[in-house]
Amino acid sequence: MRETANPFTPTFGKIPAVLAGRDALIQELETALMSGGGDPNLCSVFMGPRGIGKTVLLAYMAQRAESMGWVVANVTARPGMLEDIIERATEAADRCVAHHSGPRLTSITVPALFGATWEYRKPASGNWRTRMNNLLDTLQQHDMGLLVTIDEIDPRLEELIDFTAVYQHFVRENRRVSVFMAGLPANISALLSDRSASFLRRAAQHQLGRISEHDVRHAIEETIIEAGKTVESDALDVLTSASDGFAYMVQLVGFRAWAAASQSRTISSERARVGAEQARKDFIFGVVKRTCQELSDGDLAFLEAMLPDHGAPSKVSDVASRMGKTPNYARVYRQRLLDAGVISVPRRGSVSFELPLLREYLENETM
Ligand SMILES: Nc1ncnc2c1ncn2[C@@H]1O[C@H](COP(=O)(O)OP(=O)(O)O)[C@@H](O)[C@H]1O
Ligand SMILES: [Mg+2]
Repeated sequence: MRETANPFTPTFGKIPAVLAGRDALIQELETALMSGGGDPNLCSVFMGPRGIGKTVLLAYMAQRAESMGWVVANVTARPGMLEDIIERATEAADRCVAHHSGPRLTSITVPALFGATWEYRKPASGNWRTRMNNLLDTLQQHDMGLLVTIDEIDPRLEELIDFTAVYQHFVRENRRVSVFMAGLPANISALLSDRSASFLRRAAQHQLGRISEHDVRHAIEETIIEAGKTVESDALDVLTSASDGFAYMVQLVGFRAWAAASQSRTISSERARVGAEQARKDFIFGVVKRTCQELSDGDLAFLEAMLPDHGAPSKVSDVASRMGKTPNYARVYRQRLLDAGVISVPRRGSVSFELPLLREYLENETM
């Protein structure tokens, strides 16, 4: 019998077979896209550490928006972004017409959209705002809005500030526009604190976090069953607990367990344990190590000073004294690590490890 393809997707940016635990947020965003008017979620910012599911959420919402009559331009925050928005929007509008897929497109004739009205294709026809205005006018004639998704927000990119300034005008002019941005917490907070980004500070901010155990369990089980295998209840416990509520880990654990079961129709708890162990190694290699490489010596010293608490919350005052520094000094690093999504604050004055397996990794490194 031919082996069924592994249904898990441990690849960055890849929409999983079952999207776990974002129902409420997705619902909120869909409501905003449906309303079209002044819903604050139409300008949304998503933040969270690497592997939490930001890019996937953008990609998923882009698909949903398209099915609701929005033209979507998906871009990354890097030089050339503004031009890319025009290119991608043009492409998406063309696709929309070609497929006649949008619910509001039934009355459009193809030549109308491909004709001379697509002025904005010509870079000569005015500056970026003018060209965007032309584009939005054309879309509006066909009752379509424009959603721009911007991934990997980089606060150093001038074009982001330019984008925000022009976007503000679109909103004031009551144009049908929406923007979803995503990035690491540190980058988002740096962008929002920029003097010229006051408009963005009013955006709806969504912190993407852990997925509940219940939702993880359900997503893993459903992914396995839909793809034609079954999973023992004990095995599901092992996989759920190894995922630790972290989106990327859900996919790694499922992928490895599926592969470990090979020809077998059922994933046993023994195979699940083998898979979970391999997934832990993948995660340390792919996420934890890379995250640590981006941290400063001071950041790492702070994290190491948390280790003697063995996973229980650490008091910042204890961390400071273990570092041989003042609490004020330690608080600088506490903030940096919070912004990086590496630690969290379970209660005032305390910190915990937030990134899965980081503590285990540091313990082994420093032994
Ligand atoms: N809600 C989710 N449920 C299950 N898996 C998810 C979910 N969101 C993301 N993933 C998986 O997690 C991994 C990381 O997602 P991605 O969106 O690239 O993270 P980020 O952009 O935050 O670094 C991918 O393998 C993706 O398939
Ligand atoms: Mg991403």
